[in-house]
Amino acid sequence: MNTLIKLSLLPLLLPAVAAAQDNSELEKQAKEKIKAFATNLKSELSKAIQQGGLEQGIRVCHHRAPEIAAQSSNEGWQLGRTSLKLRNPDNAPDSWEQNILQQFQGRFEDGESLQNMAVSAKLDGQQTKIYRYMQAIAVDSVCLACHGQDIAPATRAMLEKYYPEDQATGFQAGDLRGAFSLTKYLEQANQ
Ligand code: HEC
Repeated sequence: MNTLIKLSLLPLLLPAVAAAQDNSELEKQAKEKIKAFATNLKSELSKAIQQGGLEQGIRVCHHRAPEIAAQSSNEGWQLGRTSLKLRNPDNAPDSWEQNILQQFQGRFEDGESLQNMAVSAKLDGQQTKIYRYMQAIAVDSVCLACHGQDIAPATRAMLEKYYPEDQATGFQAGDLRGAFSLTKYLEQANQ
């Protein structure tokens, strides 16, 4: 490539670099929010299971997961969890999330590690720009009692009571369970 062509590409490349840097602060905030949400939920869940078994764990997930997500949805952020195999239909993905979940599933099936699987993007909303971040959630062995293949009858009965359309069972440790999904509404369209 001659120098002239290289130089003429510069203006095209610079905004891309600037945008990537711009997202890094938002990405950092998104990761912090996920960490706080996950730590909170995990500690409440393990306390509940210790005190009242898996049934109490399900109650806590049912009531506290949406509450903790709502508490984390401050400073213009909205935080939630979503999946292609849903337990709670309120967590259904929108079309952008559906697309990313399918991408994650494809990347997972191609052998990519779930550890750092994430997508970070600024998108045009109806009136303002929005920032969106999604991060894959892997199934851990502790999740299997409620999301695995071999669920105890009492646990299954309780899940059926709360979630008659539950699709979130049959997972194995290491599978892709779903994703954290965050949206931040940015003040200005050109931000
Ligand atoms: C005690 C049972 C229990 C355990 C253990 C458990 N979950 Fe869940 N999980 C639930 C319930 C109940 C819901 C529905 C919460 C709600 O109503 O929003 C849920 C919902 C979810 C969702 C939201 C998407 C959806 O399908 O509605 C994700 C993601 C998820 N669980 C991942 C995990 C992961 C990862 C683990 C292990 C680290 C785990 N869960 C362990 C019971 C459990």
